[in-house]
Amino acid sequence: MAANKKPGQWNKETIIIVGLMCLVFLWTLNRVEMENKPQEETTEKIEKPETKATQKVEKALVPLATGKEPIDKIFVQSGCTACHTIPGIRVAKGREGPKLELGTTARRRLADPNYRGKANTDWEYVQESILNPSAYIVQGYPDHVMPRWYGQKLTAGALDKIITYLLKIEEVP
Ligand code: HEC
Repeated sequence: MAANKKPGQWNKETIIIVGLMCLVFLWTLNRVEMENKPQEETTEKIEKPETKATQKVEKALVPLATGKEPIDKIFVQSGCTACHTIPGIRVAKGREGPKLELGTTARRRLADPNYRGKANTDWEYVQESILNPSAYIVQGYPDHVMPRWYGQKLTAGALDKIITYLLKIEEVP
């Protein structure tokens, strides 16, 4: 009797132990999966802006423009050419922002009933759109794409040079 019972008990115990081991194994698998998931999500989050955002101009890599540089150099080193097409600047073929033809468009922006900025003249409009891009968003283009730190990277002299250049560009129909 005892000899018969023992193997029976042993089997039950084995079944319970194996069962428990299976549960622990499944639980561990689940934990490992759970741990991996957030990692995947974070790498996705890091990659997304790179694939989506288009053109990213790193503040740290943009030098201060003094205004003594030639105008095309200012546009290139400041990153404007990555996002804007600028007539007369050969390498400026960017499409992230509008083509810069402020000789025609500055007036148009100021006349827009949706204009809520502080500029009163074409000159002020161009200055504002460089130093505070969110003051007016050109229709069809996104806000928060153009950098907001150009005030720290362009001296008054460089800014004057840019504005003078841009206001001379008329729209070619
Ligand atoms: C990362 C992309 C990006 C960079 C770099 C960039 N811009 Fe822009 N810019 C935009 C976008 C997008 C808009 C349209 C949205 C808005 O109105 O803010 C814009 C709008 C403008 C406007 C208004 C145009 C209009 O027709 O009213 C001016 C002027 C301008 N940018 C000048 C510059 C200058 C000058 C530089 C370099 C010093 C520069 N931008 C750098 C993306 C960029």
